[in-house]
Amino acid sequence: MRRVHAVPALRRAVAAWKREGLTVAFVPTMGAIHDGHLSLVTRARESADRVVASIFVNPLQFGPREDYTRYPRPVKQDRSAFAAVGLDLLWEPRLPDIYPAGDRTRVRVHGLTDVLEGASRPTHFEGVTTVVARLLHAVQPDVLWLGQKDAQQCVVLERMIHDLLWPVRVRRAPIVRESDGLAMSSRNAYLDGEERRQAVALSRGLDAARARLARGERSATRLAAAIRSEWRRYPLVHEDYIAVVDAATLEPVGRVRGRTLIAVAARVGPARLIDNLEWDSR
Ligand code: PAJ
Repeated sequence: MRRVHAVPALRRAVAAWKREGLTVAFVPTMGAIHDGHLSLVTRARESADRVVASIFVNPLQFGPREDYTRYPRPVKQDRSAFAAVGLDLLWEPRLPDIYPAGDRTRVRVHGLTDVLEGASRPTHFEGVTTVVARLLHAVQPDVLWLGQKDAQQCVVLERMIHDLLWPVRVRRAPIVRESDGLAMSSRNAYLDGEERRQAVALSRGLDAARARLARGERSATRLAAAIRSEWRRYPLVHEDYIAVVDAATLEPVGRVRGRTLIAVAARVGPARLIDNLEWDSR
């Protein structure tokens, strides 16, 4: 596995592959690598000839009271984890590689970014779209791999790429979970023993909703109530939102029809966790 920091070195490596006619897949991350991230690389390897991943903890997508400075940065472990799954090139940009001195440029997707995560984290998605636009310009991949874990991030980035006429194919990988169902996340590291045990509420709530959907329940209110009632068994879990929305527009729906996203967010101790379930009733 090769490692580069600066954009010119990255461009040279990718350009050499392209001259050979090879296709390139790209997996952007913020590091603190777990099996969810690694599953993206594994899938990316099947989708293209070469795989590039990046590790960059992007300050722009953290709010002023969020966890930018204490976000985990286990650099050495991350490198060996990526090497072990056969990553070809790891790009570790430094701050000025992404945000040159005097930088004034932002990318903004309207509407889709004001709801769900965007309602609780008002500047978050502008940070995500701005950094991913820069990462994509630098790497110029054929395929971009994203995780369904961050379903709204997928919708926003797919919209940006489509709107900006970008010749990049976006692929989504399913959510990778711990054995008890908790969606893997770098932020799970913030949980202590009891918080970690109760964090299973998020996936258990979604399981309860899935069971009701399977039995024919279509009312958004009753599905949300089923999740809320499951969460009552976990006193350390504090609801931020439980939303039943159209999976493409992210607009709330009263009844489940077509592709529907049930997205949840909760505070558990010092962590804010998200999870979701997509249901296609067609
Ligand atoms: P990060 O949270 O590091 O996630 C990197 C990628 O891994 C994202 O596409 C995310 O959806 C995916 N991922 C995380 N946990 C997963 C899981 N349990 N199962 C499957 N996929 C999972 O998302 C970001 O970084 C940043 O916002 C980024 C896109 C890199 C821009 O800074």
